[in-house]
Amino acid sequence: MSETAAANAGRDWDAASYDRISDPQYAWALEVLERLPLAGDETVLDAGCGSGRVTELLLERLPRGRVIGVDASEAMIDHARRALGARAILRVGDLARFRVDRNVDAIFSNAVLHWIADHDAVFGALFAALRPGGRLVAQCGGAGNVAALGEATRAVLGREPFAAQARPPARAWNFATPEDTRARLSMAGFDDVQASLEPKRVAVGREFLRTVNLGPHLEGLPESLHGDFVDAVAAELGDPLELDYVRLNIDARRPAR
Ligand SMILES: C[S@@+](CC[C@H](N)C(=O)[O-])C[C@H]1O[C@@H](n2cnc3c(N)ncnc32)[C@H](O)[C@@H]1O
Repeated sequence: MSETAAANAGRDWDAASYDRISDPQYAWALEVLERLPLAGDETVLDAGCGSGRVTELLLERLPRGRVIGVDASEAMIDHARRALGARAILRVGDLARFRVDRNVDAIFSNAVLHWIADHDAVFGALFAALRPGGRLVAQCGGAGNVAALGEATRAVLGREPFAAQARPPARAWNFATPEDTRARLSMAGFDDVQASLEPKRVAVGREFLRTVNLGPHLEGLPESLHGDFVDAVAAELGDPLELDYVRLNIDARRPAR
């Protein structure tokens, strides 16, 4: 695997916090894994492996196989290395540009692809990493994901003291439609392409908002305002604090020849 500098691939994460509060992503990963048939001896790429918590689920299903985890965040990869030791091959890399030395049998990706702006590039790179006949099984945020959070965040950013001090986020979420996604996967060369939306309402806490959802906005605010900003967005969302997630399920196969 050639390592790619990931400096411009995404923000860095509070990996310990993410590992602690990512129960929703963990639950979604269990469902996504059910769509990936495994004999137990394959090599599987965990595309955007994060803190390693979900990677562990893949390892359990591959007693005679191998897991390669790639993530743009050094903090996430450090955390995954501490959690998984030598059981997984872990690399910092940008999924839009990475390469593998030997093609993998399958690719799994959970809660990652909406963080990447260029889906044509990422599907091209994932296609190139798969062996002929190998499957891509993924889920990420899709069209309409956390719409109420977007509105609440915009409302709070329009008020002081945030309006005067916020820089626009360097990155925007990419919540794609199933139609665009199917077209992009086909353009990248995949067949047996499926993409569909699945609404999932999730109760969250303030730490979840801070670590997962509001990270790109917090990057643009002075640290002294971070706590107040999270509190203001939570208040705007109201009680109970729930997010209207919409997941985009993706299944595709690299043609056998
Ligand atoms: C919400 S976490 C999901 C982690 C893990 N898959 C899980 O289900 O718990 C999103 C992850 O995507 C990674 N990510 C975002 N953009 C990326 C990119 N361009 N290349 C690789 N990883 C990326 C982040 O660093 C982060 O670890």
